[in-house]
Amino acid sequence: MTARFHNPVDTRFGYGSLQQLVALTDQQQVALVIFPEARGLGLVERIQDLLGERLVYLVEDVQPNPDVAQLRGTYERFWREAGHCQTVIAVGGGSAIDTAKALIVGTQSGSFDELLTLLATGESFVPARAKALIAVPTTAGTGSEVTPWATLWDTASQKKYSLHLDSTWPKVAIVDPQLMLTVPAGVTVSTGLDALSHALEAIWNVNANPISDNFAISAIEDILEYLPKLRLDLSSRELRSRMALAALKAGMAFSNTKTALAHSISYEMTLRHGLPHGIACSFTLPLVLGLAWGRDEARDRTLQRVFGNDLLAAQARLREFLHSLQVKTEFADYGVSAGEAEAIIAHALQGARGKNFIGARAA
Ligand SMILES: NC(=O)c1ccc[n+]([C@@H]2O[C@H](COP(=O)([O-])OP(=O)(O)OC[C@H]3O[C@@H](n4cnc5c(N)ncnc54)[C@H](O)[C@@H]3O)[C@@H](O)[C@H]2O)c1
Repeated sequence: MTARFHNPVDTRFGYGSLQQLVALTDQQQVALVIFPEARGLGLVERIQDLLGERLVYLVEDVQPNPDVAQLRGTYERFWREAGHCQTVIAVGGGSAIDTAKALIVGTQSGSFDELLTLLATGESFVPARAKALIAVPTTAGTGSEVTPWATLWDTASQKKYSLHLDSTWPKVAIVDPQLMLTVPAGVTVSTGLDALSHALEAIWNVNANPISDNFAISAIEDILEYLPKLRLDLSSRELRSRMALAALKAGMAFSNTKTALAHSISYEMTLRHGLPHGIACSFTLPLVLGLAWGRDEARDRTLQRVFGNDLLAAQARLREFLHSLQVKTEFADYGVSAGEAEAIIAHALQGARGKNFIGARAA
């Protein structure tokens, strides 16, 4: 058996670890990209106190699912006014981190459309200019702090761009569960389910290996145990830490495998039906588990380490878990007819992420 695992992010985990920003930005000028609610929570002021004069630029109007319509102005202003800073610190959920990943990739002209043109080719490129990224997640979900990917949405044209370059790996990730104490119940659940989806997608994946499997299994076990408890006890430091670590492990797993069918389905459900990312990529997990089962002996063995060897019982367990979190699990629950669902799945299997799914080989 051979395996290779690569993740270049200098990852720091721990309650109160935000403080490490001070040592990490010594002698630098930095820009901060932060989620909109942070000012009201006193977090902008806290970071301003930590960074003092090093902080030279601030982006606070990050929108959920960063859309090219808004990013264009943010990007061009950033390169005009903060082109001199060395490092961008992203503090927030996946939306803030992905926004920052777009900002750090500088085009020659400083024009955002030049970046979109490069992304539309689907080919990798070396940016004309780049900044270092320190990613500080405030949701336990996306794993974006340990991956090179960013999803940029174009709702007006019903499409999305995937940004993925050597320079979009964060240099450092600081995972501080203290920052997650203020995440509301709905976002706690949807982001936790995003992490569950990352872990499962890393297993039923043509790129899976025994190292990614270990991260994935450990993440799944933690999420199944701790997410329902956390939903009922949002101020628990212990449970916030457990979920923060679980989401990080899930991020590590899919940082090497990429995602698969459930995510491929989710893009259409978010663009067309407005579902939050975490719900869109998790409500189909029982269904996708059924499509994955029996396709590959090694993958079955890994899935069975978590779920036992009875597929129907495994699907029922996942379904009950999602229902217990008030998440519905059928396409019809989201207004999608059986015919439309079939078309969405067929289309998703043809997408870049869908092709990572082990079931896509024989489909
Ligand atoms: N790059 C990747 O690898 C990757 C992986 C998964 C998802 N994503 C992307 O991430 C985005 C979703 O990220 P998300 O699920 O973390 O949601 P999000 O970043 O949109 O945050 C959800 C909401 O919670 C708020 N929020 C965040 N942290 C908070 C806190 N500590 N206290 C109070 N409120 C807080 C945000 O402002 C927002 O209103 C999507 O655009 C998705 O495409 C990226």
